[in-house]
Amino acid sequence: MHCARCGSENPNGAKFCIECAAPLQKRCPSCGAENLPRAKFCGECATPLTAEVQGSKFQVQSLEYSAVQEGLAFRHRELETRQDIAERRQLTVLFCDLVGSTALSAQLDPEELREVVRAYQETCATVIRCYDGHIAQHLGDGLLVYFGYPVAHEDDARRAVRAGLEIIRALQSRARQQAANPPLPYGRRPNSLHVRIGVHTGLVVIGEIGSSAKREILALGETPNVAARLQGLAEPDTVVLSAVTQRLVQGLFTCEELGPQMLKGISTPLVVYRVVAESAAQSRFEAAARIGLTPLVGREQEVGLLLERWKHATTGEGQVVLLSGEPGIGKSRLVQVLKEQVAAAGATRIEFRCSPYHQNSAFYPIIDHLQRFLQFTQDDTPQTKLAKLQQALAAYRFPHADTGSLLAALLSLPQPEGAPPLTLSPQKQKQRTQEALVAWLVEEATKAAVYCVWEDLHWVDPSSLELLTLLLDQVPTTRLLAMLTFRPDFTPPWRPRSHISHLTLHRLGRPQAEAMVGKVTGDNLLHDLRGQQIVAKTDGAPLFVEEM
Ligand SMILES: Nc1ncnc2c1ncn2[C@@H]1O[C@H](COP(=O)(O)OP(=O)(O)OP(=O)(O)O)[C@@H](O)[C@H]1O
Ligand SMILES: [Mg+2]
Repeated sequence: MHCARCGSENPNGAKFCIECAAPLQKRCPSCGAENLPRAKFCGECATPLTAEVQGSKFQVQSLEYSAVQEGLAFRHRELETRQDIAERRQLTVLFCDLVGSTALSAQLDPEELREVVRAYQETCATVIRCYDGHIAQHLGDGLLVYFGYPVAHEDDARRAVRAGLEIIRALQSRARQQAANPPLPYGRRPNSLHVRIGVHTGLVVIGEIGSSAKREILALGETPNVAARLQGLAEPDTVVLSAVTQRLVQGLFTCEELGPQMLKGISTPLVVYRVVAESAAQSRFEAAARIGLTPLVGREQEVGLLLERWKHATTGEGQVVLLSGEPGIGKSRLVQVLKEQVAAAGATRIEFRCSPYHQNSAFYPIIDHLQRFLQFTQDDTPQTKLAKLQQALAAYRFPHADTGSLLAALLSLPQPEGAPPLTLSPQKQKQRTQEALVAWLVEEATKAAVYCVWEDLHWVDPSSLELLTLLLDQVPTTRLLAMLTFRPDFTPPWRPRSHISHLTLHRLGRPQAEAMVGKVTGDNLLHDLRGQQIVAKTDGAPLFVEEM
């Protein structure tokens, strides 16, 4: 028997250590684990520890346990081998490199250089994390980033391009902040950092590579090389895209074509684009709408129901429609159809759009709506923005005097002149802000019937959802139709009520799917084999029909 306290060996059967009087533990003969003196089986591996349990019954259990252990070992070996299995998938790769790093290293002391590179990498990593990108490698001061691994998103290309633009913006704002700081000792100026970024999308094989000394999960194939070469073509502080990525983000970003370019190691010239800016389109649907939508197919019943609910709302019996369905099924399209109808009738249209990138940002859809409604521009000073807000609020009668202050705070603007300071607790301030916004919407509905859309509630933040719940309680007595769209992974938290209808959109039936293929491809194709294949493969999902 082994004493865990003093390490001495004791005679078998001893209960206390003969050297130090500590209670003795039983060491398992099989795995070496220490067990309590009264243990019959090892707590680690179930090996019998006393003579009485070494009979046949326990032997069987022990054998079974060994089988389990064998099984586990096998599973472990299987997992180890699976790490060798590479996966084929589509990936968007972003390659980012610091401009002039050799010159920097000549100018700076290595300690200072390390600090500069660290700050640059931290800035990039913060942005990349926001878009769920994965930094696969730091190559000196270059960054190899994957969008689409380990987690794939429907908008990985868009995430990559946004991340690229935001890295540039973040480094520029860092430089501005540093310029405003007092100069460094000996009158030196801090170095402003510039980057070049390349983005390409393509097939890769992703898996673990390297030796036992250093193993990494990396994507192999032409895609990362092309991204790195595109980075080499980019001017400082610009993002360059391949034609494949540009097609995936069409309508979401304004791009300038740089023409076909020969890239080292790639046999054919590639058409390359420079990203000029993010467009005003906020979703794939909006981007598609700018290019031109396919004429509406089917959905007569749904449109009929929506128009009927709208009619009720205009008479003061406010309505709520919950419109759910899988991605690309046509929710936004129906929202648009009704928008056109109510616009013709002179209704007020208000749209709150939840965003996959701002699910943790309190009141994001409301702030975004207000910024558009108040026509804030990038050049507006905070004072100009405040003036725009106050001018807009002057047209309404708010029950509470602090509405202006609350909304100014919501939009991160200075407090209105002469307004008493807001001294509420954060919780109370949030609640009062929600009440003020609901009061605003309700008053809006006294001026004209309101079509109030909340798009993509599967991405809503908790504060906005609370506000929406408050609004829904007020709807029945207003001239307001609230149209709420969401995918099946969102469960509406509201109990059924007479003014709330739930409409689930299903895939198009075969005749409608054929009609849509006809509209997208031209009727000629519909009657040949390819048209029929598209109908069969897309299985009535409108987005797939358009994409094929
Ligand atoms: N009935 C239809 N007739 C013609 N085009 C349609 C129809 N339904 C959808 N579409 C088109 O299919 C594409 C996808 O539709 P939409 O964006 O409305 O889907 P969604 O349900 O809002 O998807 P998400 O959940 O991703 O927002 C759009 O370009 C839309 O115009
Ligand atoms: Mg949509």
